[in-house]
Amino acid sequence: MNSNDSSTSLIMIFGATGDLAKRKLYPSLYHLYKKGKLADHFAVIGTARRPWSHEEFRENIKDSIHSFVGADEQIDDFSSHFYYQPHDVTDSDSYIQLKTLAEELDTKYSLQGNRIFYLAMAPEFFGTIADHLKADGLTDTTGFKRLVIEKPFGHDLESAEQLNAQIRQSFPEEEIYRIDHYLGKAMVQNIEVIRFANAFFEPLWNNRYISNIQITSSEKLGVEERARYYETSGALRDMVQNHMLQMLALLAMEPPIRLTTDEIRSEKVKVFRALRPIEGNEVNEYFVRGQYGPGTIDKNEVVGYRDEMNVDPDSQTETFVAGKLMIDNFRWAGGVPFYIRTGKRMTTKSTKIVIQFKDIPMNLYNNNEQLQPNLLVIHIQPDEGITLHLNAKKSGQNMQTNPVKLNFSNEGSNGINTPEAYEKLLYDCLHGDATNFTHWDEVALSWKFVDKISEVWEQTNSEIPKYASGTMGPEEAEKLIENDGFFWWNLNDLDVENCD
Ligand code: BG6
Repeated sequence: MNSNDSSTSLIMIFGATGDLAKRKLYPSLYHLYKKGKLADHFAVIGTARRPWSHEEFRENIKDSIHSFVGADEQIDDFSSHFYYQPHDVTDSDSYIQLKTLAEELDTKYSLQGNRIFYLAMAPEFFGTIADHLKADGLTDTTGFKRLVIEKPFGHDLESAEQLNAQIRQSFPEEEIYRIDHYLGKAMVQNIEVIRFANAFFEPLWNNRYISNIQITSSEKLGVEERARYYETSGALRDMVQNHMLQMLALLAMEPPIRLTTDEIRSEKVKVFRALRPIEGNEVNEYFVRGQYGPGTIDKNEVVGYRDEMNVDPDSQTETFVAGKLMIDNFRWAGGVPFYIRTGKRMTTKSTKIVIQFKDIPMNLYNNNEQLQPNLLVIHIQPDEGITLHLNAKKSGQNMQTNPVKLNFSNEGSNGINTPEAYEKLLYDCLHGDATNFTHWDEVALSWKFVDKISEVWEQTNSEIPKYASGTMGPEEAEKLIENDGFFWWNLNDLDVENCD
């Protein structure tokens, strides 16, 4: 095996006792293992503050697999690859011990010095850990070195720049894998294929034929136990700066000349550069924020955001954002609004993209109701697929039209559940494929855009608009789109099972 073999690596997880590791990383690694993508040449060192032994750690790994994957005969073999090192992220001695263990495992499993450092912990430690990894010699190996960083990458452009400068002292850009887990979702990855592998979409994919694009990512859950972080973030930083803008970039970008990491990223960066800045007085014209109040979710009464644990009773933090974004380039100029909408405690857990085509120039069939516009709906989650909304003739003598929907379900066609986003991203990282990770230029430009909005909101004294839990956000969000003569498509009506 050579040092580029994807299955050959030592993976060090910082924050190994945390929720992300338990819920996502261990189950994803297990799936890769079962599919033979990790083979025998891998080892994992988990680090955290708790004074666990290797055995205690392995028991936790097994619990995680039992809870999130199910019982399986390979669990013991799999967990035997896991080692634990109690760790203080600020203390060189901890790193020196880690290095010794890493070298032992390198020899034991023939890992060829390949190392992935996965930072699944509080962002305030990202810079410190990166510094120590280099200063204490953990990056001194002959194999590849990759640093995987969870979000948030900074709190605004300035803090993101500082963090980036610090990390870049130890890792060059090509060794940094910034996670945006939406980029690992099967249907987000499918956006490019739908657009660039089909003759009939691309010629229509522009300001002449598309009237507007709506990207909604709604959740039923509230803030849960994350209020300490969320109070400093809000939906704009938590969802818009990364996931929503990434989906927008994939929808708006030009075809890359080749499907390489650099070419794709460079097309996405151009979209961010063409995003019309929204600032000053325009912010409240183009963006709406909201905060959930009490209400009903799945027939259960739930409290409002301000009554959640660790939330300031006067909090002005937004749990909902809707916005209208314009892209000033040749393809989109002249007014194709990209509407985005995301929030917690909404009616449904769903991520969907609706591409609404312009009305045809003349309705020949106006003997009945108005023709429905053609829609292409990309179902990101929970159902995965695409639906095309067309008009066809009703059976019978006259020429009355009927809306019909052509439906493709990803799960149905592949016959399996698509792999979890994290499984794909871990696999890509093991392969050295950074396409579905965010480049610094994308991060910087999206912070630049978002900062202008948060600056205005932070200076606004008026009460944040409220919406009842279990609804689709504040009334202001409806007005935002109605003012342009459109409306938000109802996500439940668009669900695959509601398609004819
Ligand atoms: C995370 C946000 O990045 O994405 C969470 O921090 C949010 O607040 C989550 O709940 C949504 O992800 P998904 O995959 O469930 O849509």
